Amino acid sequence: MLKDKVIVVTGGSNGIGKALVDQLLGEGAKVATCGRSQEKLDALKNEHICKDLFVAQCDVSSEEEAKGFIEKTIDHFGHIDILINNAGISMRSQFSEVSLETMRRVMEINFFGAINCTRYAIDSIIRQKGSIVGISSIAGNRGLPGRSGYSASKFALQGWMEALRSELLDTGVNVLWVSPGFTKSNVRKAALTKTVSAQGKSPLNEDKLMTPEECASLIIKAIKKRKRTLVMTAQGKLTVFMNKFFPAWSDRLTRNFFYKNGVLVK
Ligand SMILES: NC(=O)c1ccc[n+]([C@@H]2O[C@H](COP(=O)([O-])OP(=O)(O)OC[C@H]3O[C@@H](n4cnc5c(N)ncnc54)[C@H](OP(=O)(O)O)[C@@H]3O)[C@@H](O)[C@H]2O)c1
Repeated sequence: MLKDKVIVVTGGSNGIGKALVDQLLGEGAKVATCGRSQEKLDALKNEHICKDLFVAQCDVSSEEEAKGFIEKTIDHFGHIDILINNAGISMRSQFSEVSLETMRRVMEINFFGAINCTRYAIDSIIRQKGSIVGISSIAGNRGLPGRSGYSASKFALQGWMEALRSELLDTGVNVLWVSPGFTKSNVRKAALTKTVSAQGKSPLNEDKLMTPEECASLIIKAIKKRKRTLVMTAQGKLTVFMNKFFPAWSDRLTRNFFYKNGVLVK
């Protein structure tokens, strides 16, 4: 079903994005991906030397670079069927201590990165009656303490995509956003601290989390079914349910989960 479809996955050199690239190529799709590190992109290209994979260095938070990446992809493959806005970064800090540059960087990548790529890909996707996908988070359904900038960026992503879905309703384009739960990846190590440096470690036992391969395969299933939304993991589904029906209780449960003795631990 995805054979020969042209699929763009932003941030495909690691984690969930890389698992998506691996599986989509395995299904015979033509895949384009980007990231900031050329070294990681070269390693990915070497891994898939005989496959239809186009890679380009690009920071999606730059409109110029995102435009260049999308235009190069269309030059290379002729059009775009599906855009998966996956590139993302997190943050860890109490809001009362955070540098506003951390808040801005997260919003620039997670929200404006998706806007930048989609704006330049949308005409081609409409012509193809394809799909626009956003990788959100449970943090886009329930604000999470210590990650207020991350939550804000994912709420923004979902609000924008909901509006876009209505705008595109009669075009044959499907709009889907997915909310993965905790998934094994580099996202916690790369998370920006209050001083805009990478946290460098994960406070979670990464081996106990959903694998990026499982996450990617659920995303691909949802794309094939042209679903509207997808919430992952039992913990994620429970969080969304509790927040919808018991919001005040959910405030307390969320506080208890992320803090020990008044200190942010996760
Ligand atoms: N893992 C989780 O628990 C989890 C849960 C919910 C949602 N998510 C979401 O899933 C998505 C993927 O995250 P992940 O967990 O797979 O993280 P990851 O392992 O850190 O991978 C992030 C990918 O995005 C790329 N990237 C980061 N900033 C970029 C930028 N400005 N421009 C272009 N590429 C960029 C990275 O490459 P470079 O560093 O080389 O640019 C890397 O390839 C994110 O949107 C994240 O918010 C993750």
